[in-house]
Amino acid sequence: MPPRPVIIDTDPSPDDAVAFLVALASPEELEVLAITTVAGNVPLPLTSQNALKALELARRTETPVYAGAHAPLIRPLITAEHVHGRTGFDGYDLPDPTTQLARGFAPDAIIELVMSRPQGEVTLCCLAPLTNIALALAKEPKLASRLREIVLMGGSFSEGGNVTPAAEFNIYVDPEAAARVLKCGAPITMIPLDCTHQALTTPERLDKLRHIGTPLAEAFYHLLKFNKIFDEQKYGTVGGPLHDATVPAYLLRPELFSGRMVHVDVECASDLTLGMTVVDWWSVTGKPATVKVCREINAQGYFDLVIDRLARL
Ligand code: RIB
Ligand code: CA
Repeated sequence: MPPRPVIIDTDPSPDDAVAFLVALASPEELEVLAITTVAGNVPLPLTSQNALKALELARRTETPVYAGAHAPLIRPLITAEHVHGRTGFDGYDLPDPTTQLARGFAPDAIIELVMSRPQGEVTLCCLAPLTNIALALAKEPKLASRLREIVLMGGSFSEGGNVTPAAEFNIYVDPEAAARVLKCGAPITMIPLDCTHQALTTPERLDKLRHIGTPLAEAFYHLLKFNKIFDEQKYGTVGGPLHDATVPAYLLRPELFSGRMVHVDVECASDLTLGMTVVDWWSVTGKPATVKVCREINAQGYFDLVIDRLARL
């Protein structure tokens, strides 16, 4: 079976970087065509720089990185330095990258890579606000039907929000983009906070990561250790959620997850619940169930997979 071609759209903080490094460490199952960056956790120049830094650390600089949108479709950018630090990669100093960004705008690169390949071949892995994806869908009306699947980390069902009481960050930053993506017609799998909040970077798991003993493992031990501080204080947990690596983990070992096909809408008007993903879990609206929403994860199996793959780099 040939590896599954994927494009990874991201706003690197450490959980994003772990996600695309896990994908890159799995060449027999996944072919990473490109990484596309977007403004989110931190502004675009920093998310792009963090992607290049992580690829250099992993010695995977052959993977092209295309920069995308500096801001959401219609709203001002909201970032998360209070969680990830000013750089988005606080907690461990990685050298400034020497590699350059690929030429071209990320939405255009997504269109070119998807449309130049056979029908139903490419999967979009979305780890950030969905601005780049919405722009690509708007520019190429045939993009949605050309895709194999969109797997996204974002949204929330019964877990509530992590930015407001109602909204998860990736959706909240650009709710209009999220609404367009969820309605685009491509097969969609959504991994919400209900899943990721079950998958915490406990000391045992971080120590196991560190014991890999490579410079990459040491760096991500410290980056994730910094990254969990905010969530531990907010939620009173031991460890913080490793959100984004659930996306490649789902592609590599879908049996680690469980969920169901449901209808999902995004609130784009209310100030009170802006960015809320309204998940029709009990099919009360009669609207088409077009999104697979995952609610359960085998957290230990997930971390075993992540650490096993990072150890390969
Ligand atoms: O709410 C979690 C999401 O927001 C993750 O993708 C994390 O990286 C941040 O972007
Ligand atoms: Ca992210």
